[in-house]
Amino acid sequence: MEKKKTIITGKKIQLRRMAEGDLVDKVRWFNNSQVNKSLILHEPINLEDTIMWFKSAKNDPSRRDWIIESRSGLSLGVVGLNNINIVNKSACFYIVIGEPDYWGKGIGTAAARLLIKWAFDTLGLAKVWSTARKTNLSSICLMKKVGFLEEGLLRREECIKGEFLDVVRMGLLQEEFIYKDHQEYAGSSETSLLMGKTVQLRLMRENDLELRVNWFNDPEVSKTLILSEPITLESTSKWYQKAKEDATRLDLMILTLDEIPIGVTGFRKIDRGSKSACAYIVIGAKDYWGKGIMYEALKMLIEYGFNSMNLQKMWGDVRLTNVASIVTLKKLGFHIERTAGEEACSDGGRIEIVRLVLPRDEFKPGPD
Ligand SMILES: CC(C)(COP(=O)(O)OP(=O)(O)OC[C@H]1O[C@@H](n2cnc3c(N)ncnc32)[C@H](O)[C@@H]1OP(=O)(O)O)[C@@H](O)C(=O)NCCC(=O)NCCS
Repeated sequence: MEKKKTIITGKKIQLRRMAEGDLVDKVRWFNNSQVNKSLILHEPINLEDTIMWFKSAKNDPSRRDWIIESRSGLSLGVVGLNNINIVNKSACFYIVIGEPDYWGKGIGTAAARLLIKWAFDTLGLAKVWSTARKTNLSSICLMKKVGFLEEGLLRREECIKGEFLDVVRMGLLQEEFIYKDHQEYAGSSETSLLMGKTVQLRLMRENDLELRVNWFNDPEVSKTLILSEPITLESTSKWYQKAKEDATRLDLMILTLDEIPIGVTGFRKIDRGSKSACAYIVIGAKDYWGKGIMYEALKMLIEYGFNSMNLQKMWGDVRLTNVASIVTLKKLGFHIERTAGEEACSDGGRIEIVRLVLPRDEFKPGPD
């Protein structure tokens, strides 16, 4: 399926995802002496290295790089997030208007508002932070205009040609965001945190809960689950209020590329000490069973767990009768640790549980 062009549209400007064709402009902008003198990353860059950088950056789930365009399509600069941390729901914000002729016209503020609105509303982040040289008044002023507060001063953080510079650390919590013109934001077609070939994953939201309840209560789905008792919207809402604050959990929705929600996945029992977590997945939309979606979604989740959360081991508990799940987990490198586990189930019977484990070095991502 062809991916939609992802764009965030505002009144004055629009943002679109960075493409390889933008890299010539990016190099020119970052090497412009007027621009470069404000940047914390201040070394000159070249096209060859930038192309190499982009090859990994475009698939890196911890960053999103956008081009700022005039509404007529003229490229003006870059804005984005890096260090996206799904578990902490935070990310680092950056912005560079590469054409100095366009400075001081409110473009930076408009681009920051669009991007940060998308980060909070659509990606579901709770905090955005950034750093700027103490002397970079326009950048600090721009950030304060959208609600950032100074969180600290990093003294003598940089040494440029023998001169030490202080850097200000700025932070913006979701509820502090000052978004003046609501009509400016016309939404974005990009909602996911992790993008795959046929599915994407994003943080679970309150309005996903009804679907989750329907899926979990579907008898065909629930007979594969370890938790097999019927759930209600009320109990699920209570669960969600706790779960979204719970640092030992990460709950994500699985969506098709055209945004149809089809299941849930994530981690529970995230243990930062032993660097381990329990992976779970439920494809609730039965029309999507038998299409390899469990494999693809789990592979994305596991890659995120090992690469971005720095986990060393994952595990999962599955009903012994759930052969499809066991086969898929084994395809990803999981092996059975023990089969003897038994748990009482709601109807008084007992179900047999298999525990499968995956140490980091045994992960077999396979071809895409
Ligand atoms: C920082 C940057 C993104 C600002 O973009 P911009 O489009 O010029 O910003 P805006 O026009 O929206 O202006 C933001 C605010 O900064 C203020 N400002 C600009 N220069 C200033 C200065 N030297 N001192 C104090 N305030 C200043 C503006 O007055 C404006 O506030 P106002 O609307 O209340 O008047 C742009 O200058 C840039 O890309 N610089 C080079 C790269 C950079 O520094 N990036 C940030 C790295 S942390």
